Amino acid sequence: MSDEEMYLHYHGLLLPKETHSLESLKFVQEFTFEDEDVVTVTYPKSGTAWMQEILPLLLNDGDLTPIQTIPNWDRAPWLEEKRLAVVVDQLKSPRALVTHFPYRLMPHSFHASKAKVIYVMRNPMDVMVSSYYFHQMAAFLQDPGTFEEFMDKFLEGRVLFGKWTDHVKGWRHTDLGDRIMYITYEEMVQDLPAALRRMSDFLGRKLSDEVIQKIAEHCSFKTMKTNNMSNFSLVPKIYMDSDKSPFLRKGVAGDWKNHFSSEQQAKFTSVIRKDLEKESFSLPWSL
Ligand code: A3P
Repeated sequence: MSDEEMYLHYHGLLLPKETHSLESLKFVQEFTFEDEDVVTVTYPKSGTAWMQEILPLLLNDGDLTPIQTIPNWDRAPWLEEKRLAVVVDQLKSPRALVTHFPYRLMPHSFHASKAKVIYVMRNPMDVMVSSYYFHQMAAFLQDPGTFEEFMDKFLEGRVLFGKWTDHVKGWRHTDLGDRIMYITYEEMVQDLPAALRRMSDFLGRKLSDEVIQKIAEHCSFKTMKTNNMSNFSLVPKIYMDSDKSPFLRKGVAGDWKNHFSSEQQAKFTSVIRKDLEKESFSLPWSL
């Protein structure tokens, strides 16, 4: 299939038609945010599914019911995807939502609300590696081509949800004040209980150390891999083929080292650095 057949073009972004439609994009623009809503924002492949596990647990004092009975895409649905309209009335407050939208596309009611945002950022080289494998296993995405070809597309933003640097820049410059917290995938990998504590404090949840520990255990890569509500095994193989690459693939920081040549790394980092050269914020990794 051609790009045109597979993807929608929406405000300069490429979105897969399998999961997005003009109706779903209109639905989100008319969506009414509630003050209690919590939205995880990620560039694709930065830990979205992980947060779909974490947030419902943090918001329900570690009650396992949501993660054991509801698939991740329904318990913390994507704002921009078709599925939201189907499940929106079943979501209980405080609602957990996720989005890959850039800040500039967030709907009017989001700005008018007090909804909180957790922005999860991941080393872009690992994001690209994860995305490369995801494009091989997901039938609704274009074949990534060679690693080098995919890298060029990634750096130019000819991939889902556009350029990584634009996404980060947009969400770094918001007027959300203390409604937004930033966390990295690497921080979560390194010390999940500490990351969970930081998130629960931000959300104003008073959770005991026992509950934090319980959530950390249920959100570990190993446990999530065995949770059919979270490992995408409910998705028919014709859409996602885990024999090609499992959705929960490696779950580590630094897998890029197994994929990038030193020339590719130099090229990648120089483009990212150039894109961000005028920015006042610094990245948490040495790129
Ligand atoms: P890898 O492909 O590097 O393994 P998203 O949900 O945004 O698409 O991100 C998917 C990435 O998050 C995958 O990365 C996946 O393995 C990783 N991930 C999901 N759950 C995780 C967990 N509990 N611990 C560590 N990584 C996790």
